[in-house]
Amino acid sequence: EQDPRIQLIASSIRVVPDFPKKGIMFQDITTLLLDPKAFKDTVDLFVERYTGNGISVVAGVEARGFIFGPPIALAIGAKFIPLRKPRKLPGEVISENYVLEYGTDCLQMHVGAVQPGERALVVDDLVATGGTLCAAISLLERAGAEVVECACVIELPELKGREKLNGKPLYILMESH
Ligand code: PRP
Repeated sequence: EQDPRIQLIASSIRVVPDFPKKGIMFQDITTLLLDPKAFKDTVDLFVERYTGNGISVVAGVEARGFIFGPPIALAIGAKFIPLRKPRKLPGEVISENYVLEYGTDCLQMHVGAVQPGERALVVDDLVATGGTLCAAISLLERAGAEVVECACVIELPELKGREKLNGKPLYILMESH
């Protein structure tokens, strides 16, 4: 059965209809961050799952993977790698383009951030179409890392993002419809 902490976390997330455009039910995790118990429970659930798994890399996706990724990384004794939108990282980067509803976007990672053979976890707040996580997995694998799992707070299951991850495991705390 479900961990009782999940209900508190779910109820702390604000759903904003028609943001950023009509028809989108925006899952606003800023209200979760205002509740220290809900924020801590969120981080703890991931830390409990990933402690002792030999994960040496937590990669967070800009922007909201930068909120949940670092506390998980610190707690499990892993390094944190920011996967950023274009032209933000100053060093040499590798890039991965991905498709959005309208147009494309891109994630970049610093060359040398990860060593071949390292075990990596990808963290973001939400999986929708899965395009973002797919790009994140590709960056890490191109650098020789082994992506153990992707971890998100929320999944929008109707969009079937899980199917875009080439069988890579996806762990979520809750579904949103
Ligand atoms: C949101 C969300 C994920 C991504 C998921 O970020 O935080 O990163 O979309 O969508 P997908 O599964 O369809 O790829 P957003 O694109 O709004 O970027 P931001 O966090 O930088 O605002």
